[in-house]
Amino acid sequence: MEIISNPSQVEIKKAAQALKEGQLVAFPTETVYGLGADATNEKAVSRVYSVKGRPTGHPLIVHISSINRLDKWAVDIPEYALKLANEFWPGPMTLILKRSHLAQNFVTGGQDNVGIRIPSNLVAHEVIKEFEVLGGSGVVAPSANRFGAVSPTSARDVVDELGDSLDPLDLILDDGPSRIGLESTIINCLGATPFILRPGAITVDMVEQVTALDVSNADKNNVVKASGLMDSHYSPKAKIILDQQPKTGDGFLAMSVIPTPVGSIRLASPTTVEEYARGLYSALRLGDKKNLSKIFVILPDEVGLGEAIRDRLLKAAD
Ligand code: TXA
Ligand code: MG
Repeated sequence: MEIISNPSQVEIKKAAQALKEGQLVAFPTETVYGLGADATNEKAVSRVYSVKGRPTGHPLIVHISSINRLDKWAVDIPEYALKLANEFWPGPMTLILKRSHLAQNFVTGGQDNVGIRIPSNLVAHEVIKEFEVLGGSGVVAPSANRFGAVSPTSARDVVDELGDSLDPLDLILDDGPSRIGLESTIINCLGATPFILRPGAITVDMVEQVTALDVSNADKNNVVKASGLMDSHYSPKAKIILDQQPKTGDGFLAMSVIPTPVGSIRLASPTTVEEYARGLYSALRLGDKKNLSKIFVILPDEVGLGEAIRDRLLKAAD
């Protein structure tokens, strides 16, 4: 595989062409790095599953460049979903909508719905747009990590996770560290009111404000599959232990105002929840690089991005 740093417009077109030819292209987004493939190419999509070691049947998110192209992929879109789309796209939000014929079973895991996202990262946006210029419809992109591991927030992470499994014509686009560092908010838009399946940078408050609906009252019977909702996800090799005191030689992660317990190895000192989110996965990876067996984490407060950080850490600690 080839790694391209700060891709030029010519290199972006080359990446779009590679996608069109059925190759995999890992690319940056504002949330985490994704492993991209042509969402209508069954062979390319099946390589995404095998490279990640992800069990088939877990649905993939389709990434597009513009709201104008939404109805290619989704039908019967509720009014509140359009409000969310207009407000938060391009951005760190995925909407689960009723699928069109274009969203085939090998993308949706056989479900009658599809996850759609319009990322705001410029490189992601340009690659998807150029891919559409070449006649492409959408790009599936799960986080570019082995199944169950923490998501990559740099091109280096992608190489560490998947480098051995990619083939010589696959590409990795490097655009520096991810701006947000946590995966998109996933919102189920299949019922009368939206329901958040995976918290992220778009919070419950933001969704309620834009839709004027009570999100916590959503129809929870509208259960859909989301592997990110399963136990034991987002896990480093080290054991994650929450809100307890570490011993000498253990890893430690907390907001900077909390002092480092004597003898522990501090992995990050974020001053805000945004910084906490941005550095969370690289801190967990650092713990693994240092061969720590335990990482003690003090959870942030449940405000703003704090909710998403807590969600990932609670799953990692399971
Ligand atoms: O921020 C993100 O969303 C990143 C970047 C690359 O866009 N992508 C990402 O994809 O996190 P992935 O596949 O690692 O996580 C998406 C989660 C999975 O747990 C998947 O099962 C769930 O979303 N999902 C995808 N489509 C779905 C659908 N139609 N219904 C329910 N869950 C779905
Ligand atoms: Mg993932």
